[in-house]
Amino acid sequence: MPKNIFVLTGAGISAESGLGTFRDKHGDGIWARFDPMRLATPEAFAHDPETVLAFYDARRQNVGNARPNAAHFALARLERGLSARGDALTLVTQNIDDLHERAGSREVIHMHGELNKARCQMCGAVRRWTEDLGLSHACADCAFVGGLRPHVVWFGEMPLHMDDIDRALRRANLFVAIGTSGAVYPAAGFVAEARALGASTCEINLEAADNASSFDEARYGPASETVPAWVEELLAT
Ligand code: OAD
Repeated sequence: MPKNIFVLTGAGISAESGLGTFRDKHGDGIWARFDPMRLATPEAFAHDPETVLAFYDARRQNVGNARPNAAHFALARLERGLSARGDALTLVTQNIDDLHERAGSREVIHMHGELNKARCQMCGAVRRWTEDLGLSHACADCAFVGGLRPHVVWFGEMPLHMDDIDRALRRANLFVAIGTSGAVYPAAGFVAEARALGASTCEINLEAADNASSFDEARYGPASETVPAWVEELLAT
């Protein structure tokens, strides 16, 4: 039977690339330093768009200066290795950075959107956007000025590509979560869904996630070490 592997990544996979995580046990994650209700909700954007845009401009710059690490490269190797032998990988990330793509992953599902894209609130067009985003910018599709927003999912909004994700969960025989705290739904619920559908489940993380009890197996340590080791093992079987 072909292997269908579902990998879910979170901020922990990009931590060693210098991008901060959102929450950690020591209280210095992004959401401990910045209030998500003032920066990452549709209401915040409607109330104070300049502050929200400046927050995402700074994050876009950080991502531009960051480089993929060994864990991102290992997942790109996994995609190539599985495809060469007729197996399949579905890579779903909660991250809005493009480090998986820059490491060579060809198919990446960004369920929380992408920092390098802007969306027009008037016509819905989504386009690549790598510069700072301002209220004076016009949409290249409908020409409306001031309606562009980061193409990211904010609190209170539906994650993207849920139909594709649901289909991939149904065919998965192995589900692996890497560097995610298991605190944000619906992503945190994927493991229980995959398990109920018969998949084996494995957590690869720095420390136990909130939903750790839903996994059959756990590997703890920095992603730059644990992920390449897991990929080598898997491709050797
Ligand atoms: P979190 O910041 O909640 O969790 C990061 C996880 O990575 C934690 O479990 C850490 O232990 C782990 N970690 C930290 N450094 C690591 C390393 N070097 N190697 C391996 N693991 C490491 O990030 P997410 O779970 O991705 O959503 O957060 C989920 C969502 O919450 C984000 O996509 C974002 C946020 O609000 C939106 O903005 C919509």
